Amino acid sequence: MRIASTKKIHAGTILAQTIYNENGAVLIKKGMKLTEKLLRRLLNNGITYIYIEDGTTSDIKVDQTIPDKLRIEATNMIKDTFTELQEVGLSKRSYIIEERSTGLKNVVEKILGEIQQNEKSLSLLADIFVSDNYVFQHSLNVTIYSLAIGVELNFSKKQLAEIGVGAMLHDIGKMFIDPNILQKPDKLTDEEFEIIKGHTQVGFDYLRKHPYIPTVISHCAFQHHERLDGSGYPRGIQESEIHPYAKVIGIADVFDAVTSSRVYRDAMLPHEGLEILYAGAVNLFDKEMIEAFKRSVVAYPNGLTIELSDGRIGVVIRQNSNLCDRPVVRILEENETTVDEPYEVDLEHTVNVTIKEVLVE
Ligand SMILES: [Fe+2]
Repeated sequence: MRIASTKKIHAGTILAQTIYNENGAVLIKKGMKLTEKLLRRLLNNGITYIYIEDGTTSDIKVDQTIPDKLRIEATNMIKDTFTELQEVGLSKRSYIIEERSTGLKNVVEKILGEIQQNEKSLSLLADIFVSDNYVFQHSLNVTIYSLAIGVELNFSKKQLAEIGVGAMLHDIGKMFIDPNILQKPDKLTDEEFEIIKGHTQVGFDYLRKHPYIPTVISHCAFQHHERLDGSGYPRGIQESEIHPYAKVIGIADVFDAVTSSRVYRDAMLPHEGLEILYAGAVNLFDKEMIEAFKRSVVAYPNGLTIELSDGRIGVVIRQNSNLCDRPVVRILEENETTVDEPYEVDLEHTVNVTIKEVLVE
């Protein structure tokens, strides 16, 4: 299978990876020939990239970060917790987190188990789930990334449990904000932007009231948009004033935001998301944490077509767990002609060649 841009593929292309909705129901099954109508549905659902089948890459496997079943369970846990808050009256709101806290902790533990046990790099592009509300998928992805960074930074078991729940709930304040503003496709007015920024304070005020929620978890909601140089919000605190959990969640948050498609823009690919983080590594984000993240996330996922510095073109077929940005590539084209016998180049052991460009058709 190969990664292709939904905008550029034509009717008749075979889908190589099933697309689910957030409840785990199949939207489009793998093996289906995509019709114009199905292509439109993919675009309407905001899916920027998909896996397609082509003759030369049918044996390439996609690495799942967490099993589909766990992804569905976790998303539903977040969805139920978050939506219940909106549905009940003010007086009952305080019970919801209390009731759900054991469930949230269990899900965090299961995700952590997957990350630790497999020691594999994170490749979320493979997980094609469509959600009716971006915040649920986003909260889960941020949890996965934050836990991976925490593991790399040798956080203790207690710290990992805390940052996991903190990441799950970091955007809970968004449930108290007018959805018309949150999902507005056009440019926000200054006033609307201020309202959205308020999700940090609102989330904090909600979580801090709960005796079951440790203060550090409320601070994940409060501080995840703060930046090292003081340019963040809501308080503009700096450097060591920002809790380490919030710094980690801030990195995970930005990466997931830019690599997810939104109503107003397409998703970036992982290597581009990493570039964005690197650009902020001096002023905005903790450099050591970004390095830790880079060690855990796949920069060039399996199925991606790339051009090497010597002009050869191939498809990523396997990852090197030690070097997340130097995968194994199957060469399909050299000297501008298709090779008769495709062969492998392992970039971990081929030091004189770099990845020059990503070519997504
Ligand atoms: Fe946020």
